Amino acid sequence: MDISLSPAPAPDVVPVSGTLGAVVSGVDLSVELDDTTVVALEAALVKHHVLFFRDQELTPAAQMAFASRFGPLDTHPYVAGMESSPEVIEVITEPDDEVNFGGGWHTDVTFLERPDLGSVLYAVEVPPYGGDTLFADQHAAYDALSDTMKQVIDGLVAVHSPGRQYGTGGYSTKARSVRTKDADTAVAASVEHPVVRTHPVSGRKALYVNGAFTTRIKGMHGAESNALLHFLMRHAVEERFTCRFAWQPGSVAMWDNRSVQHYAMFDYRGHRRHMRRVTIAGDRPF
Ligand code: SIN
Repeated sequence: MDISLSPAPAPDVVPVSGTLGAVVSGVDLSVELDDTTVVALEAALVKHHVLFFRDQELTPAAQMAFASRFGPLDTHPYVAGMESSPEVIEVITEPDDEVNFGGGWHTDVTFLERPDLGSVLYAVEVPPYGGDTLFADQHAAYDALSDTMKQVIDGLVAVHSPGRQYGTGGYSTKARSVRTKDADTAVAASVEHPVVRTHPVSGRKALYVNGAFTTRIKGMHGAESNALLHFLMRHAVEERFTCRFAWQPGSVAMWDNRSVQHYAMFDYRGHRRHMRRVTIAGDRPF
């Protein structure tokens, strides 16, 4: 008698744009995934850069268990997590908030020496309209540059700092329903990363500057650095490199923080939005 278990069917992965993003179905993220499914999701993430799942039911513990299949979890240095689970950040906008968390194009925590590999964001409560998250493919943005511009920026190094977001009076500290902390240490912190990073799995190059945390290009005069960063940051998020996800309660987005920038749209004033975010620790960009 053959008692071997049949393998779980491969998840169904359907792209949502010509550039990045795919909806994955046929996977229940609340149960322990088999290794084959994890490998398939890892491959889909590297290929599509952001994966979307619908109709999931995740407790904070289940969300952490799912994310930890892709690497050790991270805690945010300037945002307090849940008391019971510091790895889980409650990303909440209350109806009377003036500022939302993540409301500008950015790559997560590039002010760290080892920025996160990726994030898993779960929708608990969504507004009746709006509140989408936009994603921009930084490989496509790099590939679209001229060879001459690629030669200019390959090998450049940029400085990243949490100060503008998490320092005293910083933008993210005004998102008052998200509990930021340690603003005094954020102001002076900085780290250097390549302006063009190489994805450790695919080997593809990606633009690696963002408006939230990149402050200057090393070795350039202020005016030179500002002009080049202005161009690169605008170019990086051109519409042709983006996709957009409309949330429903129970939706999950998992993004590759080595490949994308994202933007939490704030077009739902007067309504509540409640997400939970878990991040996976990453390596030093090269
Ligand atoms: C974030 O920047 O991680 C928040 C994204 C979102 O709330 O859509």
